[in-house]
Amino acid sequence: MLVKHTTGNRRIIIAIDGPAASGKSTTARKVAGMLGYTYIDTGAMFRSVTLKVLDLGMIDTVRSFPDSIEALLQDLSITFCDDRVFLDGRDVTSAIRENRVSREVSFISSLGPVRQRLRLMQQDMGRLKGVVMDGRDIGTVVFPDAELKIFLIADARERAARRYAELAAKGASGSELPDVGMLEREIVERDRADAERALAPLKKHPDAIEIDTSELSIDEQVTMVRDLALALLRREG
Ligand code: DC
Repeated sequence: MLVKHTTGNRRIIIAIDGPAASGKSTTARKVAGMLGYTYIDTGAMFRSVTLKVLDLGMIDTVRSFPDSIEALLQDLSITFCDDRVFLDGRDVTSAIRENRVSREVSFISSLGPVRQRLRLMQQDMGRLKGVVMDGRDIGTVVFPDAELKIFLIADARERAARRYAELAAKGASGSELPDVGMLEREIVERDRADAERALAPLKKHPDAIEIDTSELSIDEQVTMVRDLALALLRREG
């Protein structure tokens, strides 16, 4: 069902935040498809910067001299097309999901110049509205005026099981496919780092609607968020 048939032409911003593997991206992508909106995965943007640092062999340098990342941000291009992510024109959709990227992304995303650069890119991507954007700070920092703010949470063990299934389905093996216990520890550690960092930490906006997805199917999550969006659009459209 396309929203323009039922709710006039008003378009909104839907911000979906929450910890790692809480179902944000699958939910956001499907809701965007149902509403005819654009889906923007901001985690993929932080992962792309991390991949760039790793591929340039600069991770140790950035760790010792965080400001050295600024040079690399100057000619950064991240675009989305047909559900694929392009970094400086290269398709990095699979590479950014590798565990070596997951292990470093919290560090890279804690750096001020990275957050500032990506925030401006994200605000530009959403300036015409009609977007569903997922991340950690979309409702709090990037679009604090987003009409609909959702905060998804789920039990850490359940999230690790989901991440394992996702990696296995992609054919990961060896060091790229840790066991579920290890994935759970990595997820808990990443949540801690994302929630405790000084800049734009993972936090629920007071207006955000919290949904615990531990016991929900993807279809149930999607329906809940879509119905909230449609109710809002009908009320205010
Ligand atoms: O959603 P994800 O797991 O792909 O995100 C990867 C990392 O990027 C996550 O650990 C924290 C960071 N991130 C962020 O700091 N701010 C966002 N808006 C999105 C992601």
